[in-house]
Amino acid sequence: MNVPFVDLHAQYLTIKPEIDFAIENVIRETAFIGGKYVKSFENAFAEAYGVKNCISVANGTDAIYIALRMLGVEPGDEVITVANSWISTSETISQAGATPVFIDIDPVHYTINPDLIRDKITARTKAIIPVHLHGQMADIIAIQAICEEYGLFLIEDCAQSHFSAFEGKYAGTFGDAATFSFYPGKNLGAYGDAGCILTNNDALAEKCRMYANHGALKKHHHLMEGINSRLDGMQAAILETKLKHIHSWTRKRIDKASLYSKLLEDLPGINLPTVRPETEHSFHIYAIRTNYRDELKEYLAEKGIETAIHYPTALPLLPAYDHLAYKPEDIPVASCYQHELLSLPLYPELTEEQQMYVTDAVKEFMLTNAAK
Ligand SMILES: Cc1ncc(COP(=O)(O)O)c(C=O)c1O
Repeated sequence: MNVPFVDLHAQYLTIKPEIDFAIENVIRETAFIGGKYVKSFENAFAEAYGVKNCISVANGTDAIYIALRMLGVEPGDEVITVANSWISTSETISQAGATPVFIDIDPVHYTINPDLIRDKITARTKAIIPVHLHGQMADIIAIQAICEEYGLFLIEDCAQSHFSAFEGKYAGTFGDAATFSFYPGKNLGAYGDAGCILTNNDALAEKCRMYANHGALKKHHHLMEGINSRLDGMQAAILETKLKHIHSWTRKRIDKASLYSKLLEDLPGINLPTVRPETEHSFHIYAIRTNYRDELKEYLAEKGIETAIHYPTALPLLPAYDHLAYKPEDIPVASCYQHELLSLPLYPELTEEQQMYVTDAVKEFMLTNAAK
């Protein structure tokens, strides 16, 4: 049996007539850039979150960069973020001219450890970017309190956490701005690159919209220099079609994650994901932890099971950040877990049979090889 890490074609087949219809409309109307499909998706996404403004952009990386710039982050500033994430979270801080300040992760939930943030705040700190990693919400209430206490902007990186929630309130509705990626493999994914910013701040929304469109809200009226970061009509129409299914897909992800946890329960040498209390984890990623990660990954690959690592090197330890001179001891948890985390296949169309096959293989490996 082959179990891919994600199967986007399987998902397409479940909604083929709707998607084909949406794409045909865009082509017939040649609504390729801007236009009604983009507007309509922005409205639908904002409404789904109960947030006033959705500004669509070209991808989730631009979303963070634009939010940082338009909140006024500039050279000389520091922005606090988490040691374990995709590089977009920190490279955008540098792109804005600021310095990323990395905080270790909490050993249980793998998100930024709020207890370590205060010590890193300086007169130059401007903002905090927590990441709701794997679909697990960061300790957003504690982070919000720190931001309020020190007057810092809060930008939630929601690239991996569409419709995750704390006490029923969605990730992305706690900060000054939230940024989303709709990269194809995300819980809500386009058929190409796509992203957006959510904010209740109308002035910030207008600035972001302007900056993403060459500094103009009206054609040829460039009030500043900006960038070209647009969602195209095709992606917007696809996203709006898929948005109608997101809650059912999220439910399936959560159910499949529970099944994994049930099937792997009590297996020695494996740590299963722990959902933060009072939250809904949207399970973009189901990551287990083991000291035998690399051997297990190889064993599963031999069995036709594709896995992934999120992420093999903690951000501050990447060569890209050599100049900041972080040592593994500065981020002991993230630097240890980078060798242990292994993401198992998880997507709404994954079958129970495939899950049994995956968990049988994990058990087989752990009970024979790892027990030696
Ligand atoms: C945590 C996180 N932030 C930001 C991004 C950037 O999104 P994009 O790939 O759409 O630029 C990603 C995407 O992989 C991500 O996982």
